[in-house]
Amino acid sequence: MAAAVVRDGSAILASAIRGQAQVHRPYGGVVPELASRDHARSVSEVVGQALEEAGVSLEQIDGVAVTAGPGLVGSLLVGLSFGKALAYRLGVPVVGVHHLEGHLASATLADPSLVAPFIGLVVSGGHTALYRVEEEVAPVLLGETRDDAVGEAFDKVAKLLGLDYPGGPALSRAAEHGDPGAVAFPRPMLDRPGFDFSYSGLKTAVALEVERRGVTLAEAEVADLAASFQVAAVAPLVAKARAALAQAGLDALAVVGGVAANRLLREQMGRAAAEDGFRAVFPPPGLCTDNAAMIAAAGTRLLAQGEAHGLDLNSFSRVPVGAAPWAPGASG
Ligand code: KG4
Ligand code: ZN
Repeated sequence: MAAAVVRDGSAILASAIRGQAQVHRPYGGVVPELASRDHARSVSEVVGQALEEAGVSLEQIDGVAVTAGPGLVGSLLVGLSFGKALAYRLGVPVVGVHHLEGHLASATLADPSLVAPFIGLVVSGGHTALYRVEEEVAPVLLGETRDDAVGEAFDKVAKLLGLDYPGGPALSRAAEHGDPGAVAFPRPMLDRPGFDFSYSGLKTAVALEVERRGVTLAEAEVADLAASFQVAAVAPLVAKARAALAQAGLDALAVVGGVAANRLLREQMGRAAAEDGFRAVFPPPGLCTDNAAMIAAAGTRLLAQGEAHGLDLNSFSRVPVGAAPWAPGASG
C-alpha cells in the first residue's frame, strides 16, 4: 500500500510505502486475498502518514489520483474506494491512472528535463514492454513479453536457488559474488527481429541446470547461477531498447519498473548509452519499485489535460495502455 502527496506533478512532498513482504513471505509469493485484507487494514493510516510527512492538510488537496488497473482487483478496489470517498468528501476531482503510465511518469518525475517523445522500457514483476512515449497521446506499444515478465523470472529463479523472498533484489545481491560466464544460458529473443521478449525458456533452462546438479547447491554455485542468469536476462533488454531507439530515431530512453533498480541493467544500459549517444534515465530505486508518487504525477498530468472520472470509476485486472475502459469516451 502506498500514498503520496505531489505538488504540481513534479515535487514529491511525501511518499509513504508499506510493503507486504512479511505477509506473503511464508507462501513464497503474493496471496491475493491476504494482499487485499492488508490493503484494507493499512490504507487510512498510510494516507494519513503521507499527509503528515508532507505537512499538508486535507483541505489543501486539489485532486486525487488512484491506480485503476491493471493488477489484483481486490487490492485495487481498496485504494479506488478510498480515493473516491476522499475526493467526494473534499469536493475535488478523482482520476484513475493506468499502473504502467504511472511507471512511465516516474521517469519525468525523477528527471523533469526528460521530455517526450522518448522510448520507455517498462520492466517489472508483471510487465516487460517497450513503448514510444508521446506528449499528449497514450504511449504506443512497440513490443512486449510473450510469456513471463523479467521480474517474474528473477523471482522464480531466486526461488529455485533457495534465495529469500522477494527474489529480484536477493538474486542480484547473490550475483555480485558469482561468475556470469559460469553457465551459458540462452539469451531469449536476442537474435530475433522486432521488440518482443520471452523469459519462460530462460527460467526453464535454469531449472534444468539446478535439477541436473541434483545436490543442495553450495553458496558459490548459487552465486554463479545467479550471475549467469542475470547477464542472460539483461542482454535482451539492452539490445531491444537500443534497436527501438535507432528505429524511432530518438535519443532518450526511460527505464522504469522494479527491475530498473537492478545494478547490472543500469551499468549495461549506461554503457550502451555512452556508445550509441543516447540518454538513459533511470529513476532512483525508490521510484522504480511500486510507489504512489508516480501515480500522483501521472494523475496530475491527466487532470491538467481535462481528464477526470466519476464516482462510477471501476478497477480492472487487465487493461491495455491507451485503451483504459475508464477513460472518457471509452465504451463498456
Ligand atoms: O514495479 P514493481 O515494484 O511491481 C510490479 O508492478 O510488478 O516490480 C517488482 C519486481 C519484482 O519482480 C522484483 O523482484 C523486481 O521488480 N526487482 C528487481 C530488483 N528490485 C526489484 N529485479 C532485479 N533486480 C533488482 N534489484
Ligand atoms: Zn509496478
